[in-house]
Amino acid sequence: MISTVVLGFGNVGKHLCLALEQSDAAQLVQIYNRSESEVPESLQKVEFIHELGDLTRADLYLIALPDDAIKSFSDKLKKHNSVVAHTSGSKSLEALKKHDRAGVFYPLQTFSSERTMDLRTVPICIEAKHPEDEAMLVQLAESISEKVKVISSEERKKLHLAAVFASNFPNHLYHMASEILGEHQLDFDLLKPLIAETADKIQSLPPVDAQTGPARRGDENTIENHLHLLTNSRFREIYELLTHSIKETYGKKL
Ligand SMILES: NC(=O)c1ccc[n+]([C@@H]2O[C@H](COP(=O)([O-])OP(=O)(O)OC[C@H]3O[C@@H](n4cnc5c(N)ncnc54)[C@H](OP(=O)(O)O)[C@@H]3O)[C@@H](O)[C@H]2O)c1
Repeated sequence: MISTVVLGFGNVGKHLCLALEQSDAAQLVQIYNRSESEVPESLQKVEFIHELGDLTRADLYLIALPDDAIKSFSDKLKKHNSVVAHTSGSKSLEALKKHDRAGVFYPLQTFSSERTMDLRTVPICIEAKHPEDEAMLVQLAESISEKVKVISSEERKKLHLAAVFASNFPNHLYHMASEILGEHQLDFDLLKPLIAETADKIQSLPPVDAQTGPARRGDENTIENHLHLLTNSRFREIYELLTHSIKETYGKKL
Protein backbone atom coordinates (compact mmCIF):
# COMPACT_ATOMS: atom_id res chain seq x y z
CA MET A 1 0.00 0.00 0.00
CA ILE A 2 1.25 3.50 -0.83
CA SER A 3 0.92 5.53 2.35
CA THR A 4 -0.31 8.96 1.28
CA VAL A 5 -0.81 12.35 2.89
CA VAL A 6 -2.98 14.87 1.03
CA LEU A 7 -2.06 18.49 1.70
CA GLY A 8 -4.95 20.84 0.95
CA PHE A 9 -8.63 20.03 1.32
CA GLY A 10 -10.12 22.32 -1.30
CA ASN A 11 -11.77 21.50 -4.63
CA VAL A 12 -9.18 18.94 -5.72
CA GLY A 13 -7.85 17.76 -2.35
CA LYS A 14 -11.30 16.74 -1.15
CA HIS A 15 -12.10 14.67 -4.27
CA LEU A 16 -8.67 13.01 -4.20
CA CYS A 17 -9.11 12.10 -0.52
CA LEU A 18 -12.54 10.57 -1.20
CA ALA A 19 -11.12 8.49 -4.09
CA LEU A 20 -7.91 7.49 -2.30
CA GLU A 21 -9.88 6.32 0.72
CA GLN A 22 -11.60 3.80 -1.62
CA SER A 23 -8.36 2.80 -3.41
CA ASP A 24 -6.85 -0.62 -2.78
CA ALA A 25 -3.37 0.68 -3.69
CA ALA A 26 -3.31 3.63 -1.28
CA GLN A 27 -3.57 4.12 2.41
CA LEU A 28 -4.69 7.67 3.14
CA VAL A 29 -2.86 8.25 6.41
CA GLN A 30 -3.39 11.98 6.96
CA ILE A 31 -5.03 15.09 5.54
CA TYR A 32 -3.61 18.56 6.11
CA ASN A 33 -5.56 21.75 5.68
CA ARG A 34 -4.59 25.22 6.89
CA SER A 35 -8.04 25.87 8.32
CA GLU A 36 -10.89 23.80 9.76
CA SER A 37 -13.05 22.12 7.12
CA GLU A 38 -16.17 20.05 7.11
CA VAL A 39 -15.08 16.42 6.75
CA PRO A 40 -17.39 13.96 4.94
CA GLU A 41 -18.52 10.83 6.80
CA SER A 42 -16.27 8.47 4.80
CA LEU A 43 -13.13 10.42 5.83
CA GLN A 44 -13.96 10.72 9.54
CA LYS A 45 -11.45 8.03 10.51
CA VAL A 46 -8.52 9.70 8.68
CA GLU A 47 -6.34 11.94 10.86
CA PHE A 48 -6.90 15.61 9.97
CA ILE A 49 -4.17 18.11 10.90
CA HIS A 50 -3.72 21.89 10.64
CA GLU A 51 -0.03 22.22 11.57
CA LEU A 52 2.85 21.08 9.37
CA GLY A 53 4.73 20.11 12.54
CA ASP A 54 2.18 17.26 12.98
CA LEU A 55 2.90 15.69 9.58
CA THR A 56 3.40 11.96 9.71
CA ARG A 57 5.87 9.95 7.58
CA ALA A 58 4.42 8.65 4.31
CA ASP A 59 5.51 7.32 0.90
CA LEU A 60 3.78 10.18 -0.87
CA TYR A 61 2.84 13.80 -0.09
CA LEU A 62 0.25 15.10 -2.54
CA ILE A 63 0.08 18.91 -2.56
CA ALA A 64 -3.37 20.10 -3.69
CA LEU A 65 -2.92 23.83 -3.06
CA PRO A 66 -3.43 26.80 -5.40
CA ASP A 67 -0.67 27.13 -8.02
CA ASP A 68 0.83 30.24 -6.45
CA ALA A 69 1.19 28.55 -3.06
CA ILE A 70 2.87 25.31 -4.24
CA LYS A 71 6.52 26.45 -4.32
CA SER A 72 6.58 28.23 -0.95
CA PHE A 73 4.57 25.46 0.68
CA SER A 74 6.80 22.70 -0.70
CA ASP A 75 9.84 24.63 0.55
CA LYS A 76 8.34 24.43 4.04
CA LEU A 77 8.05 20.61 3.91
CA LYS A 78 10.93 18.73 5.53
CA LYS A 79 13.14 16.74 3.18
CA HIS A 80 12.35 13.03 3.55
CA ASN A 81 13.03 10.16 1.22
CA SER A 82 9.40 10.35 0.07
CA VAL A 83 7.75 11.44 -3.15
CA VAL A 84 6.31 14.97 -3.15
CA ALA A 85 3.83 15.64 -5.98
CA HIS A 86 1.52 18.51 -6.88
CA THR A 87 -1.81 18.41 -8.72
CA SER A 88 -1.38 21.44 -10.98
CA GLY A 89 -1.82 21.56 -14.74
CA SER A 90 0.39 24.56 -15.23
CA LYS A 91 3.27 24.21 -12.73
CA SER A 92 6.38 22.25 -13.66
CA LEU A 93 8.48 19.98 -11.45
CA GLU A 94 10.62 23.07 -10.77
CA ALA A 95 8.07 24.21 -8.16
CA LEU A 96 9.09 21.18 -6.06
CA LYS A 97 12.82 21.52 -6.58
CA LYS A 98 13.65 21.26 -2.86
CA HIS A 99 12.58 17.60 -3.08
CA ASP A 100 14.61 15.17 -5.15
CA ARG A 101 11.70 12.72 -5.57
CA ALA A 102 9.32 15.22 -7.19
CA GLY A 103 6.24 14.38 -9.22
CA VAL A 104 2.96 15.55 -10.69
CA PHE A 105 -0.48 14.01 -10.26
CA TYR A 106 -2.75 16.21 -12.39
CA PRO A 107 -6.43 15.25 -12.67
CA LEU A 108 -7.76 16.77 -15.89
CA GLN A 109 -11.24 17.80 -14.78
CA THR A 110 -13.02 20.83 -13.36
CA PHE A 111 -13.52 20.31 -9.61
CA SER A 112 -15.79 22.16 -7.23
CA SER A 113 -15.77 20.84 -3.68
CA GLU A 114 -19.58 20.84 -3.38
CA ARG A 115 -19.99 18.53 -6.42
CA THR A 116 -19.70 14.74 -6.31
CA MET A 117 -17.35 13.27 -8.89
CA ASP A 118 -16.48 9.80 -10.16
CA LEU A 119 -12.71 9.98 -10.62
CA ARG A 120 -12.65 6.71 -12.61
CA THR A 121 -13.50 8.61 -15.79
CA VAL A 122 -11.10 11.49 -15.09
CA PRO A 123 -7.74 11.43 -16.93
CA ILE A 124 -4.83 11.64 -14.50
CA CYS A 125 -1.59 12.99 -15.97
CA ILE A 126 1.57 11.76 -14.30
CA GLU A 127 5.12 13.01 -14.35
CA ALA A 128 8.06 12.22 -12.08
CA LYS A 129 11.76 12.97 -11.94
CA HIS A 130 12.65 9.30 -11.33
CA PRO A 131 11.23 6.28 -13.22
CA GLU A 132 10.49 4.31 -10.01
CA ASP A 133 8.48 7.26 -8.66
CA GLU A 134 6.65 7.56 -11.98
CA ALA A 135 5.71 3.86 -11.62
CA MET A 136 4.43 4.51 -8.08
CA LEU A 137 2.31 7.48 -9.16
CA VAL A 138 0.94 5.51 -12.13
CA GLN A 139 0.02 2.62 -9.82
CA LEU A 140 -1.77 5.00 -7.48
CA ALA A 141 -3.53 6.82 -10.34
CA GLU A 142 -4.64 3.53 -11.94
CA SER A 143 -6.24 2.51 -8.66
CA ILE A 144 -8.66 5.46 -8.86
CA SER A 145 -8.92 6.20 -12.60
CA GLU A 146 -9.23 4.22 -15.85
CA LYS A 147 -7.44 6.97 -17.81
CA VAL A 148 -3.84 7.44 -16.71
CA LYS A 149 -1.21 9.05 -18.92
CA VAL A 150 2.46 9.87 -18.40
CA ILE A 151 3.21 13.28 -19.91
CA SER A 152 5.98 15.87 -19.65
CA SER A 153 5.69 19.31 -18.01
CA GLU A 154 5.70 20.92 -21.48
CA GLU A 155 2.87 18.70 -22.76
CA ARG A 156 0.90 19.26 -19.55
CA LYS A 157 1.13 23.05 -19.96
CA LYS A 158 -0.36 22.75 -23.47
CA LEU A 159 -3.07 20.45 -22.17
CA HIS A 160 -3.89 22.92 -19.42
CA LEU A 161 -4.06 25.76 -21.96
CA ALA A 162 -6.48 23.73 -24.11
CA ALA A 163 -8.51 22.91 -20.99
CA VAL A 164 -8.96 26.63 -20.27
CA PHE A 165 -10.49 27.05 -23.77
CA ALA A 166 -12.60 23.90 -23.40
CA SER A 167 -13.95 24.50 -19.91
CA ASN A 168 -13.17 27.81 -18.19
CA PHE A 169 -14.06 30.06 -21.16
CA PRO A 170 -17.35 28.27 -22.04
CA ASN A 171 -18.31 28.46 -18.35
CA HIS A 172 -17.73 32.21 -18.38
CA LEU A 173 -19.91 32.44 -21.47
CA TYR A 174 -22.65 30.53 -19.55
CA HIS A 175 -22.36 33.20 -16.88
CA MET A 176 -22.77 35.94 -19.50
CA ALA A 177 -25.78 34.12 -20.98
CA SER A 178 -27.32 33.92 -17.52
CA GLU A 179 -26.74 37.66 -16.98
CA ILE A 180 -28.46 38.48 -20.30
CA LEU A 181 -31.44 36.30 -19.36
CA GLY A 182 -31.51 37.68 -15.82
CA GLU A 183 -31.77 41.24 -17.13
CA HIS A 184 -35.02 40.21 -18.84
CA GLN A 185 -36.37 37.96 -16.02
CA LEU A 186 -35.86 34.83 -18.14
CA ASP A 187 -34.86 31.53 -16.55
CA PHE A 188 -31.34 30.14 -17.19
CA ASP A 189 -32.87 26.62 -16.99
CA LEU A 190 -34.27 27.23 -20.51
CA LEU A 191 -30.69 27.03 -21.85
CA LYS A 192 -29.65 23.85 -20.03
CA PRO A 193 -30.78 21.33 -22.73
CA LEU A 194 -28.93 23.42 -25.34
CA ILE A 195 -25.77 23.50 -23.23
CA ALA A 196 -25.99 19.75 -22.60
CA GLU A 197 -26.44 18.94 -26.33
CA THR A 198 -23.59 21.29 -27.34
CA ALA A 199 -21.24 19.42 -24.99
CA ASP A 200 -22.63 16.02 -25.92
CA LYS A 201 -22.45 16.29 -29.70
CA ILE A 202 -18.67 16.74 -29.78
CA GLN A 203 -18.47 13.15 -28.46
CA SER A 204 -19.38 12.08 -31.99
CA LEU A 205 -18.61 15.13 -34.19
CA PRO A 206 -15.36 17.12 -34.50
CA PRO A 207 -15.98 20.59 -32.96
CA VAL A 208 -15.34 22.24 -36.31
CA ASP A 209 -18.30 20.32 -37.82
CA ALA A 210 -20.57 20.88 -34.81
CA GLN A 211 -20.57 24.70 -35.04
CA THR A 212 -23.91 26.36 -35.78
CA GLY A 213 -25.29 29.89 -35.35
CA PRO A 214 -25.41 33.24 -37.16
CA ALA A 215 -21.62 33.67 -37.49
CA ARG A 216 -21.22 30.22 -39.06
CA ARG A 217 -24.12 30.99 -41.48
CA GLY A 218 -22.87 34.52 -42.22
CA ASP A 219 -26.28 35.88 -41.12
CA GLU A 220 -25.41 39.59 -40.91
CA ASN A 221 -28.92 40.82 -39.99
CA THR A 222 -29.07 38.65 -36.90
CA ILE A 223 -25.53 39.62 -35.89
CA GLU A 224 -26.41 43.34 -36.20
CA ASN A 225 -29.60 42.84 -34.15
CA HIS A 226 -27.67 41.03 -31.42
CA LEU A 227 -25.07 43.81 -31.26
CA HIS A 228 -27.87 46.38 -30.83
CA LEU A 229 -29.41 44.34 -28.04
CA LEU A 230 -26.16 44.15 -26.08
CA THR A 231 -26.05 46.96 -23.56
CA ASN A 232 -22.90 45.76 -21.79
CA SER A 233 -19.84 46.91 -23.81
CA ARG A 234 -17.63 44.06 -22.53
CA PHE A 235 -20.24 41.50 -23.69
CA ARG A 236 -20.41 43.28 -27.07
CA GLU A 237 -16.62 43.11 -27.48
CA ILE A 238 -16.61 39.38 -26.72
CA TYR A 239 -19.52 38.80 -29.11
CA GLU A 240 -17.62 40.61 -31.88
CA LEU A 241 -14.36 38.79 -31.16
CA LEU A 242 -15.94 35.33 -31.22
CA THR A 243 -18.08 36.16 -34.25
CA HIS A 244 -14.92 37.30 -36.07
CA SER A 245 -13.12 34.09 -35.09
CA ILE A 246 -15.98 31.87 -36.29
CA LYS A 247 -16.21 33.77 -39.60
CA GLU A 248 -12.45 33.44 -40.12
CA THR A 249 -12.67 29.70 -39.41
CA TYR A 250 -15.41 29.18 -42.01
CA GLY A 251 -14.01 31.62 -44.56
CA LYS A 252 -16.81 34.23 -44.40
CA LYS A 253 -15.85 37.85 -45.10
CA LEU A 254 -16.57 40.36 -42.29
N1 LIG B 1 -10.20 23.16 -9.25
C1 LIG B 1 -9.95 22.52 -10.37
O1 LIG B 1 -10.83 22.36 -11.20
C2 LIG B 1 -8.58 21.92 -10.65
C3 LIG B 1 -8.47 20.91 -11.62
C4 LIG B 1 -7.24 20.29 -11.80
C5 LIG B 1 -6.13 20.71 -11.07
N2 LIG B 1 -6.25 21.73 -10.18
C6 LIG B 1 -5.06 22.12 -9.41
O2 LIG B 1 -5.15 21.58 -8.09
C7 LIG B 1 -4.55 22.49 -7.16
C8 LIG B 1 -5.55 22.86 -6.10
O3 LIG B 1 -6.64 23.55 -6.69
P1 LIG B 1 -8.01 23.74 -5.90
O4 LIG B 1 -9.00 24.25 -6.89
O5 LIG B 1 -8.33 22.50 -5.13
O6 LIG B 1 -7.60 24.88 -4.89
P2 LIG B 1 -8.48 25.60 -3.78
O7 LIG B 1 -9.74 24.82 -3.55
O8 LIG B 1 -8.58 27.03 -4.12
O9 LIG B 1 -7.53 25.54 -2.48
C9 LIG B 1 -7.10 24.31 -1.91
C10 LIG B 1 -6.65 24.52 -0.50
O10 LIG B 1 -5.47 25.32 -0.46
C11 LIG B 1 -5.43 25.94 0.80
N3 LIG B 1 -4.51 27.09 0.69
C12 LIG B 1 -4.63 28.17 -0.10
N4 LIG B 1 -3.53 28.94 0.00
C13 LIG B 1 -2.71 28.32 0.91
C14 LIG B 1 -1.44 28.64 1.45
N5 LIG B 1 -0.79 29.74 1.07
N6 LIG B 1 -0.91 27.78 2.36
C15 LIG B 1 -1.58 26.66 2.77
N7 LIG B 1 -2.79 26.32 2.28
C16 LIG B 1 -3.35 27.14 1.36
C17 LIG B 1 -6.85 26.30 1.10
O11 LIG B 1 -6.97 26.20 2.50
P3 LIG B 1 -8.05 27.05 3.34
O12 LIG B 1 -9.24 26.14 3.42
O13 LIG B 1 -7.37 27.24 4.63
O14 LIG B 1 -8.29 28.32 2.59
C18 LIG B 1 -7.66 25.22 0.37
O15 LIG B 1 -8.16 24.23 1.22
C19 LIG B 1 -4.04 23.68 -7.98
O16 LIG B 1 -2.69 23.45 -8.30
C20 LIG B 1 -4.90 23.63 -9.24
O17 LIG B 1 -4.24 24.18 -10.37
C21 LIG B 1 -7.46 22.35 -9.93
